[in-house]
Amino acid sequence: NKGNYEHYMQKEIHEQPESLTTTMRGRLIRGGSCKAKSVLLGGLKDHLKTIRRSRRIVFVGCGTSYNAALASRPILEELSDVPVTMEVASDLLDRQGPIYREDTAVFVSQSGETADTLNALEYASENGALCVGITNTVGSAIARHTHCGVHINAGAEIGVASTKAYTSQIVVMAMLALAIGGDTISNRARREAIIDGLCDLPNKVREVLKLDAEMKELAKLLIAEQSLLVFGRGYNYATALEGALKVKEVALMHSEGILAGEMKHGPLALVDENLPIVVIATRDACFSKQQSVIQQLHARKGRLIVMCSKGDAASVCPGDSYRVIEVPIVEDCLQPVINIVPLQLLAYHLTVLRGYNVDQPRNLAKSVTTQ
Ligand code: UD1
Ligand code: BG6
Repeated sequence: NKGNYEHYMQKEIHEQPESLTTTMRGRLIRGGSCKAKSVLLGGLKDHLKTIRRSRRIVFVGCGTSYNAALASRPILEELSDVPVTMEVASDLLDRQGPIYREDTAVFVSQSGETADTLNALEYASENGALCVGITNTVGSAIARHTHCGVHINAGAEIGVASTKAYTSQIVVMAMLALAIGGDTISNRARREAIIDGLCDLPNKVREVLKLDAEMKELAKLLIAEQSLLVFGRGYNYATALEGALKVKEVALMHSEGILAGEMKHGPLALVDENLPIVVIATRDACFSKQQSVIQQLHARKGRLIVMCSKGDAASVCPGDSYRVIEVPIVEDCLQPVINIVPLQLLAYHLTVLRGYNVDQPRNLAKSVTTQ
């Protein structure tokens, strides 16, 4: 049921404040004045010790689910003190890459049925790793075959392009980082800031959704373009990949997410006065580096669309040759949840304006159950 919306993708983008609320329900413990704030993931509580003792955490997924894991990697590294590596499921299988008994392998899949992810799970399980699932589908193959896990509880997602599952996956993995990480005096303020940030996140998503009309206007400007680049780094490298994936899979426009730190090693050659480029430059530890990326792209007459934190437009984008997307600021590790929303809206409007099928893009399936 699409309710008042024209498409499922549109409905699922706009229901993210609610889906995120459901994802966090019963899992955040805010505590009274003397009680520490914490998280409770029922499906993991008996396995946290083993996970903390593992030599490595390996994320495995495909498509949007891989991107969600990538967005969560920095905070998991920071809070858990365990090295975190990333695997695209098909590539892990192609290489028969190393997976050991001392590893915790985390399988991220909205449907819980993706063949590559499922085969990688079987492989990791045979190699003796602790296998953890993060899925939206109770009773799915991945939920059944993992040793333990977390349901993201985002509600059914119908649009082939994943939107609300992506943001709920990131939130679950941020909670996973809090659950694995020890509650020490030195990191208590950071942990509490993240928990407060999680509690307020649905409100902030509601706020960023107000950019809908602005994103439709931007889509009108980009409707006839051949290509769109998206530059990000740090927490928002994943946002760049996921934003570009949305544009390419539904709007059928070539789009590439680029790690801004690699700009000078190739992508800079593409920059001219015609190619539109989104640069994500919201406030975090990488902010000043992104400011310098903006300057360098500007010096080469790049057609820039800059995503920055509210109030930063004037300082980040001097001159009127820029388009600006101002988003609410949240705790750095949760910023990817906010920053993807305008790009989801942009991809949606581009698709409708270009006259393509939003909910069932050409050649794609919601769940790829064959290799
Ligand atoms: C569970 C209940 C929820 C109830 C809550 C009350 C289910 C599905 N969930 O939620 O309805 O309100 O207790 O405390 O009945 N699992 C995997 N692999 C996965 C995902 C999950 O093995 O990929 C396992 C978990 O380890 C756990 C079980 O499935 O044993 C349920 O997981 P989850 O729904 O996340 O647990 P709770 O949030 O505690
Ligand atoms: C398909 C979907 O390719 O599978 C994508 O079209 C999705 O939207 C990918 O990200 C992975 O799916 P899942 O269910 O494993 O998260």
